[in-house]
Amino acid sequence: MIALTLAEVAAAVGGTLDGADPDALVTGPVEVDSRKVSPGGLFAAFVGEHVDGHDYAATAVGAGAVAVLASRPVGVPAVLVDSVVEALGRLARTVVARAEDTAVVALTGSAGKTSTKDLIAQLLQRHGETVYPPGSLNNEIGHPMTALRVEAGTRHLVMEMGARHKGDIEYLTSITPPRVGVVLNVGTAHVGEFGSKEAIAEAKGELVEALPADGAAILNADDRLVRAMASRTKAKVVLFGESPDAHVRATDVRLDATGRPSFTLTTPAGSAPVQLRLYGEHHVSNALAAAAVAVELGMSVDDTAAALGEAGALSRWRMEVVDRADGLTVVNDAYNANPDSMRAALRALVSMGGRGPERRRTWAVLGEMRELGEESLAEHDAIGRLAVRLDVTKLVAVGGREAACMELGARNEGSWGEESVLVSDADAAVELLRSQLRPGDVVLVKASRSVGLEKVAEALLADGGAAR
Ligand SMILES: Nc1ncnc2c1ncn2[C@@H]1O[C@H](COP(=O)(O)OP(=O)(O)OP(=O)(O)O)[C@@H](O)[C@H]1O
Ligand SMILES: [Mg+2]
Repeated sequence: MIALTLAEVAAAVGGTLDGADPDALVTGPVEVDSRKVSPGGLFAAFVGEHVDGHDYAATAVGAGAVAVLASRPVGVPAVLVDSVVEALGRLARTVVARAEDTAVVALTGSAGKTSTKDLIAQLLQRHGETVYPPGSLNNEIGHPMTALRVEAGTRHLVMEMGARHKGDIEYLTSITPPRVGVVLNVGTAHVGEFGSKEAIAEAKGELVEALPADGAAILNADDRLVRAMASRTKAKVVLFGESPDAHVRATDVRLDATGRPSFTLTTPAGSAPVQLRLYGEHHVSNALAAAAVAVELGMSVDDTAAALGEAGALSRWRMEVVDRADGLTVVNDAYNANPDSMRAALRALVSMGGRGPERRRTWAVLGEMRELGEESLAEHDAIGRLAVRLDVTKLVAVGGREAACMELGARNEGSWGEESVLVSDADAAVELLRSQLRPGDVVLVKASRSVGLEKVAEALLADGGAAR
């Protein structure tokens, strides 16, 4: 963290000092877990469901915390505030405002934020010190906690911004005002809460409204609702995608036999071939967004293309591909699912299966896509149909009504159940797969996060070479 005195911390958060030395210097980091506190740090006390951080204030100070950010006196040096969550946000805002050399990159979208954030971070890291959150840490606590890791030498801060409600992104951009804003797509994720795709676009567009005139809005040219956000920003607009008028484009997109895309990256500054290490065609769009950011921040096209080729998957359960000793391949994409990512994952699965006599059997073990509102049953039906149309060997639909609908879609599209089966839960899926899988098969596992289908992938991998 950029060093601040306790007096400066109190001023930043609108708090009062309690038994604390105003000149004491906080050098960070800020922690919410007293066991992680280190000398010079600040401990933020939250009242959780099971634990009250205030009870650990003395432990934190004993471990070297300069003070505690707290909502009531704790008997050790503290900065007292009404709301610790808001105080963290204000403190982060102050720290980021002081970090004049740090370019903030913020991204939002319905699917691919974490994957793209990880890509952008891996590109920008080659160019200078880059701070970014692990995984999907993007809520009102995780967001400022990440921003507070910014140091004097930090060149880039990359932030994922999710929206559950109108105003969420506006709040996050007020904490870390972005210079570069990326909108990936407007899908149907959370449509249940927002009511319509247009309402989702309205909320996500808050990101480009927050950009300054000398900033850049990086928008998906292939997504109608994202493209339309160009009219909501003062910043320069950079379009990415496969559309012919995109500034940063992919042409000659191909999936190789392992499901990894390659393409030609074209930007106003030149072209270069890209071969990704990530699986699935949907990463082409993510890679273009990342490339647009890198080029905007001064990286050369060759450097950007090379860095894209080296970038790996940093966050787990997103198209995580593991080969078992017996040659069975497990594709664990159980982190989350929506119709767009289901389609992309099915296409990647089929391409991993290959063609011709060497073709491998492909299994799509799919569970419910949650939060789809009224469209839910139709969307599940469509995924079942697509599995058959793409010629997936077998769809294993896991769960209740939605899964049944997906399986019925497959039945109606295909040949009476040969290509699909319905099972009630993850355990039943594992049992079925164990009895039917053969070495060389490829198994995709995917559903909404809360379905917990990663259990299936883990069980198959734990079986190791034992499968026949
Ligand atoms: N551009 C894309 N289009 C469609 N699906 C995608 C795209 N990028 C990633 N996905 C898929 O979406 C799922 C979630 O990916 P990721 O975690 O990167 O997204 P996210 O937007 O961060 O999700 P969350 O809102 O849960 O944080 C994964 O299953 C992934 O395969
Ligand atoms: Mg995420």
